Amino acid sequence: MVDHYNRTIDYMRISVTDRCNLRCQYCMPEDIPSIPHEEILSFEEILHICRLAADLGIQKFKITGGEPFVRKGCLDFISELKKVPGVSQVTVTTNGVLLAEYMPQLREIHPDGINISLDTLRADTFHHITQRPYLPQVMEGILACVESGIKTKINSVLLRGVNDHEFFDLVNLAKEYPVDVRFIEIMPIGSGQQYEGYSRQELITLLEERYPNGVRVSEIRGNGPADYIHFPDFKGCIGFIDAIHGKFCNSCNRVRLTADGILKLCLYYQNGIDLKHMVRTGEPDDQIRKAMEQAILKKPAEHQFHMDAREGAKEMRRMSQIGG
Ligand code: 5AD
Ligand code: SF4
Repeated sequence: MVDHYNRTIDYMRISVTDRCNLRCQYCMPEDIPSIPHEEILSFEEILHICRLAADLGIQKFKITGGEPFVRKGCLDFISELKKVPGVSQVTVTTNGVLLAEYMPQLREIHPDGINISLDTLRADTFHHITQRPYLPQVMEGILACVESGIKTKINSVLLRGVNDHEFFDLVNLAKEYPVDVRFIEIMPIGSGQQYEGYSRQELITLLEERYPNGVRVSEIRGNGPADYIHFPDFKGCIGFIDAIHGKFCNSCNRVRLTADGILKLCLYYQNGIDLKHMVRTGEPDDQIRKAMEQAILKKPAEHQFHMDAREGAKEMRRMSQIGG
C-alpha cells in the first residue's frame, strides 16, 4: 500500500524473539531480561498478522530477532510463511551461529535470502565483540549457505579501533565468494551510542583508493537502502547502509512487527499499534486490517537521530528488541 508520503510499503521485518545466543557489545552487551514467553506472539499469531499484511500489499518479509534461529519452530514458521498467498519473498537475518546445524532443513525450505552478521574474521576479535567463542560455527554456516545456492549476504558493522583494520579482509569475502558484503553504519541505539563508526563516504574513499575500477550498481539488489559497488574480478558486490548520514527515509518501504506484537512504523519512534492485543481479544480481521492500514498511512516522514528534543518519542529499546 501507499502511505501519506507516497511511499509504497511492501516489506515487513518480523522479530520472532528478543533472545540471542551472542552478546555483542554494541547491541546486547549483558544479559538483559527477556520478554516473558506469554508476551511473545505465537507463530500462529504471527502468521495471522502476516496474512492480513499480505492483504494490504505487504509481500516481502524478513525474519529477524534477537537471533531468530534460537526460537524453536522458526524453520517451520518460515516454511509456512512462504506458503501464504500474496507473499513473494521471505528472507532471514541471522548471526550465523546455528546456520550450519540447520542447513539441511534450510536447503529444503530455501528462503529467498539469508543475511549473516559478521564483523570480524579473527577469533579473538569475535570473542571480544560478541563475548562468545563461536566464530568457527559462523564461518562454517556462511560457507554452507553460499554452497547451498541460497542468496547470501554478509552484514558488517565497522567500529573505530575495534575491527576497522579488517575492512579489506571483509571486503575480500566478496572477491572470493558470490556474496554481497554490506557495511552498516553503527546507529546510536542502546549500547551502539558508545561506539564510533564510519560513514559510507569514508569507506568508499578507502575502497576506491585500493580498487579504482568500481562500478556503482544502481539496480535494486535487496529490499533495503544499500548502495552497491561492483569491482572487476569480484564475485559479489560491496554495499553500504548508512542510515544516519545518508538518510533514506523518503524511500522507506518497511514496517516492523516486534516479538511482543507491536506494529512499529519507524525504527526511531517508540510508538506503534498493539496488534497482539487485537489478535488476542479476537477482534475481527476487518478491524485489525483497518487498524494496520490507518497506522501505515500515518507512518512518520523520517527519523530524528540528529535531534535530542524529542526524547519523549524516541525509541529507547535496544536493537535486539526491535529486530534491526
Ligand atoms: N547499529 C547498526 N547496526 C546494528 N546491529 C545491531 N545493533 C546495531 C546498531 N546499533 C546490526 C547487527 C546485525 C544486524 C541485525 O543489526 O550487527 O548485523
Ligand atoms: Fe549480536 Fe545480533 Fe545478537 Fe545483537 S541480536 S547480540 S547484534 S548477534
